[in-house]
Amino acid sequence: MTQITIRRPDDWHLHLRDGNMLQAVAPETARHFERAIIMPNLVPPVVTGAQASAYRDRILATLPEGSRFEPLMTLYLTEDTDAEDLARAHADGLIKAVKLYPAGATTNSASGVKNFDTVRPVLEKMAEIGCPLCVHGEVVDDDIDIFDREAVFIDRILDPLRQATPGLRVVMEHITTAQGAAYARSGGKDLGATITTHHLVINRNAMLVGGIKPHYYCLPVAKREEHRLALRKAATSGEACYFLGTDSAPHLDGAKLSACGCAGCFTATNTLSILAEVFEQDGALDKLEGFASLNGPAFYGLPVNTGTLTLTKGDPVTYPEKIVTPEGDVTVFDPMMPLHWRVD
Ligand code: NCD
Ligand code: ZN
Repeated sequence: MTQITIRRPDDWHLHLRDGNMLQAVAPETARHFERAIIMPNLVPPVVTGAQASAYRDRILATLPEGSRFEPLMTLYLTEDTDAEDLARAHADGLIKAVKLYPAGATTNSASGVKNFDTVRPVLEKMAEIGCPLCVHGEVVDDDIDIFDREAVFIDRILDPLRQATPGLRVVMEHITTAQGAAYARSGGKDLGATITTHHLVINRNAMLVGGIKPHYYCLPVAKREEHRLALRKAATSGEACYFLGTDSAPHLDGAKLSACGCAGCFTATNTLSILAEVFEQDGALDKLEGFASLNGPAFYGLPVNTGTLTLTKGDPVTYPEKIVTPEGDVTVFDPMMPLHWRVD
């Protein structure tokens, strides 16, 4: 096969930031994607409907003329979240989900949840109104090794939380382990999981062998090869519970290349070429559309996009190494393999 046409894809987990960074990175996603779930971990975070509405306007203002890109907004769950404000924003169609960060788990998560019992009434409201909860699934306990934090989160927090709140729809964001893939598969119609592009490509060696490579550091951190292979199997399986959430997370190079570097891989620019390469390697090009364009809308109860996107195979395609912002550069994820699929 040398050409493939799929329904226009969506990104179910994206960081666009704000200000100059937003201006620089929004077109990178809008070029290929029709919609994206926009992460609310700004500083300060997007916690109210009014803030989500204002942020949505700022995103729309950065889009190139004629762009049809639709940002799907989320709220950042805190221990002070107002359930009524949340329900109103959801009923108005302004927000499509709420994001749960365990406090301290990742970039800009300080306002996240420490005691999961405090948010129980909000979660019950969300179950009642059918608003999905997007979960950053890592425990933050000092005694848990960073490579085990996802698996422990499933046992200690996620499974009890789901048992206690029947009907709550949950997306396990950016799963990175075989345990995450297995739990997502076992959860029935109320459970889904996003998988990033980069976790299909790198294992932890990419980050640590031959010198430390900050551009491959993200959270949840890439795991052993056996986990990457489990994620590849899940993503290319066509199963409805798995869909694309790139977690494209831009940071200025100065903040990445530092003694205490930020977590995040910026993949918006070349994600679709990488995905086509990955799915072809696994003999699953026919499953790319499900993963990138169909399973996500089905989970979120949204229509599939009407437009299409065509990828053509040929000589290796190149992408810019960096996206330039007035404050500095953002390095585009290097998949360490030639990419042969060009987005037409
Ligand atoms: C994300 C960011 O930079 O905001 N970083 C990351 O490594 N993925 C936060 C997140 O999704 O965990
Ligand atoms: Zn993220």
